[in-house]
Amino acid sequence: MFTLENVATAAYVIAALLFILALAGLSKHETSRAGNTFGITGMAVALIATVALAFDRKIEPLGLALLIGAMIVGAAIGLWRARVVEMTGMPELIALLHSFVGLAAVLVGWNGYLHVEGDLAGAEAAKLGTEGMLGIHSAEVFIGVFIGAVTFTGSIVANLKLSARIKSAPLMLPGKNFLNVGALVVFFALTVWFVIEPQLWLLVVVTVLALLLGWHLVASIGGGDMPVVVSMLNSYSGWAAAASGFLLGNDLLIITGALVGSSGAYLSYIMCKAMNRSFISVIAGGFGIEAGPAEDKDYGEHREINAEGVAELLSSADSVIITPGYGMAVAQAQYGVADLTRKLREKGVNVRFGIHPVAGRLPGHMNVLLAEAKVPYDIVLEMDEINDDFDGTSVVLVIGANDTVNPAASEDPGSPIAGMPVLTVWNADNVIVFKRSMASGYAGVQNPLFFRENTQMLFGDARDRVNDILAALSVGERV
Ligand code: TAP
Repeated sequence: MFTLENVATAAYVIAALLFILALAGLSKHETSRAGNTFGITGMAVALIATVALAFDRKIEPLGLALLIGAMIVGAAIGLWRARVVEMTGMPELIALLHSFVGLAAVLVGWNGYLHVEGDLAGAEAAKLGTEGMLGIHSAEVFIGVFIGAVTFTGSIVANLKLSARIKSAPLMLPGKNFLNVGALVVFFALTVWFVIEPQLWLLVVVTVLALLLGWHLVASIGGGDMPVVVSMLNSYSGWAAAASGFLLGNDLLIITGALVGSSGAYLSYIMCKAMNRSFISVIAGGFGIEAGPAEDKDYGEHREINAEGVAELLSSADSVIITPGYGMAVAQAQYGVADLTRKLREKGVNVRFGIHPVAGRLPGHMNVLLAEAKVPYDIVLEMDEINDDFDGTSVVLVIGANDTVNPAASEDPGSPIAGMPVLTVWNADNVIVFKRSMASGYAGVQNPLFFRENTQMLFGDARDRVNDILAALSVGERV
């Protein structure tokens, strides 16, 4: 029969298919634009169907006004943030958006309790009067609130760490593993209790417990593992949305939540593999990782070089590898780097790029910047493709990278980033490090590379220094 309810269900199926196409499209560079369009269309279809259903179910005028008001305000804030956000600020914005999903799941769960378990007439009206059905509903409420609250505070801590408003070093509370496991055991016990006898105080306790656990889980993870944390919170936010879908009886929310939850979990798994991290350890808040000894090692003196000196080195080089990092993004040095690449290639120098999987602050961050500056794709290589080639390379330009070129990861088992694969730049004949000071990178770990015999520091903003090198090369050409 043709009813608005049936049309909305069909629209939900179409939206779900569009979301699957969006994920498939976003997995490849060439199809990512199409993937984005599928995602936007799916979301528009889902929103229109949801509003149409609300009309059909004749919700109160106040509810309708709130729904439309929230959509207008939300869309305006979303458009504004998307327009003004810097590329380097994306991860912290994403973390903040995850926290909204978590908060929404907590509110939906609480609302579900107040309408059903907290109001027996409501339970009757919702046809959950029978014991089995009420038990399932109670489990959905409890689990949804738990996942939502963990996601909420976890994402806020991630946002604060990514925006450098709190330190990125891991919090090492005594017995931290015991605290995490203990919180999970208490949660399981409370869930059973709540299903047998739903009571308000149990819901309050699980909310507070989950808020504290979310905060502790992410605070315990070190800066170097933050990329995994962001995708892990993405996954949690998906499961939180799916839990809300069960409570609201909304199939699309269940499907979308499951898609986000599973793809986020898979992305976290791939990232852990790339960074040689234990997946279980990271999702369990750095489980099993204990604090290393405080760093007070004396690495000796570093050496400095100026732009003219670098230009001279480059003029006599046969091969150059550029390893960009977060600092290139901050300085917006990619255009100068592209000009420098062009100039050197015209002189017959073999110039290539080495990209670490977590360089910058987003997966693919460096690739996007270099593509924007029109650096040819075929000279931009992944870490595994280029790592054996540093040996025999005349000059490596480390432009605003730090953790991703830190030899301590492979040489110091006590280092917080021990075991993480890094670009082995120190095997080249000359290494030039572009940065503004001797400060450590995102993981807060000192970098012994800066003190090596074949390393020279070029201090200052990366864009200014690259432009100085370009100017020095032009002067060299004229004389
Ligand atoms: P980082 O280790 O973050 O180091 C960047 C370096 O750039 C800093 O040492 C900084 O030194 C320098 N810098 C900053 N602004 C600069 C400017 N204007 N000009 C010149 N240099 C500048 O970079 P990385 O090697 O790319 O490593 C990425 C880190 O971020 C890893 O720890 C990774 O785990 C983490 N992370 C990655 C992601 C993803 S998915 N990619 C997400 C979250 C976190 P000065 O201050 O001395 O200039």
